[in-house]
Amino acid sequence: MLIGKYKILGKEYKTKDYVEILNPSTNTSYAKVPALKKELVDKIYQFASNKQIEWENKTISERAVYLKKWADLIEKNKEKLAKLIVNEVAKNYQDSLIEVERSVTYIRYTIEEMYRINLEARTSEQFYDGKKDKIALIQRKPYGVILIISPFNFPINLVISKIAPALISGNVCVFKPATQGSFVAIELIKLWEQTKAEDGIINLITGRGREISDYLVTHPLINFINFTGSTNVGKEIASKAKMIPIIMELGGKDAAIIIDGANLEKASDEIIKGAFSYSGQRCTAIKRVFVDKKNKEILEKLLLSKIKKLKIGLPQDNADIIPLIDQKSLKYQEELLSDLNQKAKILIGNKKDIKNNIFYPTLVTNVLSTDRLAKEEQFGPILPIITYDNFDHLIKIHNDTSFGLQASIFARDLNNLFKIAEKLEVGTINFNKKSQRGPDNFPFIGYKDSGLGTQGIKNSILAMTKEKVIIINI
Ligand code: NAP
Ligand code: G3H
Repeated sequence: MLIGKYKILGKEYKTKDYVEILNPSTNTSYAKVPALKKELVDKIYQFASNKQIEWENKTISERAVYLKKWADLIEKNKEKLAKLIVNEVAKNYQDSLIEVERSVTYIRYTIEEMYRINLEARTSEQFYDGKKDKIALIQRKPYGVILIISPFNFPINLVISKIAPALISGNVCVFKPATQGSFVAIELIKLWEQTKAEDGIINLITGRGREISDYLVTHPLINFINFTGSTNVGKEIASKAKMIPIIMELGGKDAAIIIDGANLEKASDEIIKGAFSYSGQRCTAIKRVFVDKKNKEILEKLLLSKIKKLKIGLPQDNADIIPLIDQKSLKYQEELLSDLNQKAKILIGNKKDIKNNIFYPTLVTNVLSTDRLAKEEQFGPILPIITYDNFDHLIKIHNDTSFGLQASIFARDLNNLFKIAEKLEVGTINFNKKSQRGPDNFPFIGYKDSGLGTQGIKNSILAMTKEKVIIINI
């Protein structure tokens, strides 16, 4: 079994209290990482806070030195990191490698973006008496100590997408990774240590979220919380955080919408990729399909034939359908399928391989918008098909969920796209493509229960900094 060891308060940490991580593919022990207690967490916040001003006082270029080195080290170790992702969260090797490479680009672009954002100037001439007698110099100041909490499914990318913008703008981080993913996180932070940055800039805390929640989330030295994870946990953290500014990326129920005239061959390819890659464990996975009656049958046939071609197996064999993150998730897939309306029909799937924690790709038709499968986030390889009568009906049943992350519209006619896109309660609409986050410099926003605030490189820097305005009176 691997043992995750890392530095705390500048020293190698030794403990007898550990959290065990299982290998999702075998349900056997994979690694263990320290479970931190309140007293130590308090000291870590104090340590981070003491280091922050010094870090803020550095120039962007001085801070960038460490981030550039980190990007280079991550790039150099990309195969090793990708293999760790494969083992710990069962993502296939190819996608794991892409995740690491994407994160390297993220860091480098973040540095460039910070130079562009650094300072803005405005004049007063459009106001009052029209005189040009005031100039505002608008700087971006860091909040201070940022608490970062990340989910299991992108253990590198969704960590870098928080830490890089936080650090380049002068914040320091207290970072709590998902337990399943925290061994990868330790390796990532060890690479940061190799940059020779001072201790206390990134401060790792491992331990079960629900057990350490109270002292992790409510500490008086937290200046900002950046969270990605499920909506339920996000709401719990928001209620505890009170006046602390917060940004959240939460669950999704992204729809693929088929409009008559769409290229069904291409649409079905995109839907298959969107719904089943990484067994549907992406916030932006396609989690429901809306189709009109005319195109329903042909779409179903296409989806069915393509599902049959999906490779089911282990992540190291680059399978599409891989083990789910844990047995709880496997049971949840079954629970959603046992709660369908009478007319719903499972066209393929609803099969499991308990030994390897695999749920087979499943297609269900005649799902009603009132079924749990149409409303809840399955975070697994089940795709419900829902039929709509007309555009008004489509909008109504599409918006009848608490989520609002993204949607994909497959259509030939741009007018239809805009007509529908305007009315969907989601942050982003993809035209003739599966839903997805990014490119990472695009704004990424969830409406309703899918989030709070906007991420994306520029937006993340703006979110984790505040304006400081100096007015020059001429
Ligand atoms: P999760 O169970 O909500 O966990 C997310 C993080 O919160 C983990 O680090 C977890 O630690 C921690 N946590 C759990 N309970 C906590 C508590 N009471 N107080 C403080 N922290 C707590 O989510 P997940 O299963 O890792 O990730 C899947 C979910 O994330 C899905 O809903 C997905 O849609 C969403 N997600 C959204 C986006 C987006 O950009 N919108 C991106 C990725 C994922 P432990 O692991 O120790 O429990
Ligand atoms: O789980 C949520 C990730 O942010 C999804 O990223 O759409 O690039 O796969 P992706």
